[in-house]
Amino acid sequence: HAATYDTLDGTAPIVVAHRGASGYLPEETLGSYELAMQMGADYIEPDLQLTSDGHLVAMHDTTLTRTTNVSSLFAARNGSYRVSDFTLAEIKTLTVKPTGALSEPDSTYPGFTPSMADPYKVPTFGEVLDTLTAYNAANGTKIGIYPESKAPHDPVKNRRIIEVLKDKGYTSAEDRVILQTFANESVVDLNALLAENGMEAELAQLGSVVLSGGIYGVRGSDGTNSLADIAKFATGVGVSFGGITEAFIRDAHALGLKVHAYTFRPLSEDEAFALINPYLDWGLDGFFTDYTDFGRAVVDAQ
Ligand code: G3P
Ligand code: CA
Repeated sequence: HAATYDTLDGTAPIVVAHRGASGYLPEETLGSYELAMQMGADYIEPDLQLTSDGHLVAMHDTTLTRTTNVSSLFAARNGSYRVSDFTLAEIKTLTVKPTGALSEPDSTYPGFTPSMADPYKVPTFGEVLDTLTAYNAANGTKIGIYPESKAPHDPVKNRRIIEVLKDKGYTSAEDRVILQTFANESVVDLNALLAENGMEAELAQLGSVVLSGGIYGVRGSDGTNSLADIAKFATGVGVSFGGITEAFIRDAHALGLKVHAYTFRPLSEDEAFALINPYLDWGLDGFFTDYTDFGRAVVDAQ
């Protein structure tokens, strides 16, 4: 690889396993996270939702329908299958289905044997952290966690995220935590909660790139903020890759903000090189991908 990188801190861009190795195995499951770690992820990414009894589970959608067999086991509640209408015990009876473009229908991946008994259930945030801790300890790795507080802004959810991180010992810079959210209000809230609890973590404002009057900003779920305003509360931005320009990365870096791109979904290694390399040449600090192995190959070839 190159002796230096054009990233903000000069280190290699990070490969974030988006919902685990979600292109190959059921997303946001322990099996998917384990495969992603074996494939060389620098960070694993869970999206976090609250159950009706206040537990954080790894789940992208507000409802359980797209990724699980909930509708074959339960009747709808209030006309829907919202995570927030089911208890953790109920959610634990569900099985997560493969949804990735290169997934096998039987939830297998060639040569991969999950180490846990039930790899394709909905995990709690605590279980994701336990799996990460055990993997790092067994393999001498320092893979990090990139948890998303799903919009809309919910102070209860944010407090719970901080509590679980503390409980599992993820409190200092070397524990490699990057919090992320689309909700501008949650960025401000999480920044305050980290300080209040004496915790060190990076914090990313998510959204899409906006250029107005020559000033770059990010449009989150509850408004647009300039990069200068974001830099008051966050350490980076996570933005949809299509809107990223070289000037956006330059302006973000000038304010001390890292730039992470979501979500690269190349269906082959060749496609990954063609898709991702231009952004790395501009100094991108990292990216989310469903295909950890392709992402790893691109960064390792730099
Ligand atoms: O968190 C970055 C990226 O994951 C945002 O998109 O919808 O997959 O959470 P989404
Ligand atoms: Ca996410």
